[in-house]
Amino acid sequence: MNITVIGRGHVGGGLARMWQRAGHQVTTIGRDGGDATGADVVVVSVPGNTIAEALSTVTGLDGQVTVDTTNLYTERDDTYPSLSHHIKAVIGGPTAKSFSTVFASAYDDIATQRVTPSSLYAAEPGAKDITERLIHDIGFDPLYVGDLDPGARLIENSAALTRALAGQIGPFFYRYGRPGEL
Ligand SMILES: NC(=O)c1ccc[n+]([C@@H]2O[C@H](COP(=O)([O-])OP(=O)(O)OC[C@H]3O[C@@H](n4cnc5c(N)ncnc54)[C@H](OP(=O)(O)O)[C@@H]3O)[C@@H](O)[C@H]2O)c1
Repeated sequence: MNITVIGRGHVGGGLARMWQRAGHQVTTIGRDGGDATGADVVVVSVPGNTIAEALSTVTGLDGQVTVDTTNLYTERDDTYPSLSHHIKAVIGGPTAKSFSTVFASAYDDIATQRVTPSSLYAAEPGAKDITERLIHDIGFDPLYVGDLDPGARLIENSAALTRALAGQIGPFFYRYGRPGEL
């Protein structure tokens, strides 16, 4: 796939490297902006309070499948039900949220876990297959929460729990499974 990642920091840069290794064509865009024309999927990995500013520097955003990885640690602007909805209002394509509940600092350790770690995702129907593939291609087990509404906001609201747990044990993986699966 031709993947454009907006944000080349811990998450954007890390995901880009892993997808490249998995055989995808990846372009990253930093705060100086760039062009997303021709992307099969656009991944947004900027601080949640900079979405409008970051997307305004990118040309060629025109209805692509979009995956939002953002979290927000400042006050929420309630114009949109979730950060993913904000991003969808700009790009306009089928949208998903994932990678926001996993730690970039642990990316190098995904492959060596005893069980495959989960990555939660919420997605509109048109973004589901691509998102699952992107999650799978870096070594996570995709776990569907539901459609973008209300799934994205549910995932965003879980950030406080993630931070509280990280305060106790540091960066971690998680795995959900039915009884007997784990
Ligand atoms: N770090 C994690 O473990 C983790 C895990 C899950 C989710 N998240 C979320 O994923 C997103 C990215 O996190 P990160 O850790 O990758 O952040 P980061 O390392 O600080 O990288 C942020 C990226 O956003 C770009 N950017 C574009 N416009 C910007 C603007 N106006 N202001 C600031 N940065 C701008 C930066 O560009 P330049 O390269 O040009 O500076 C940089 O590439 C955040 O929403 C974060 O909450 C992070």
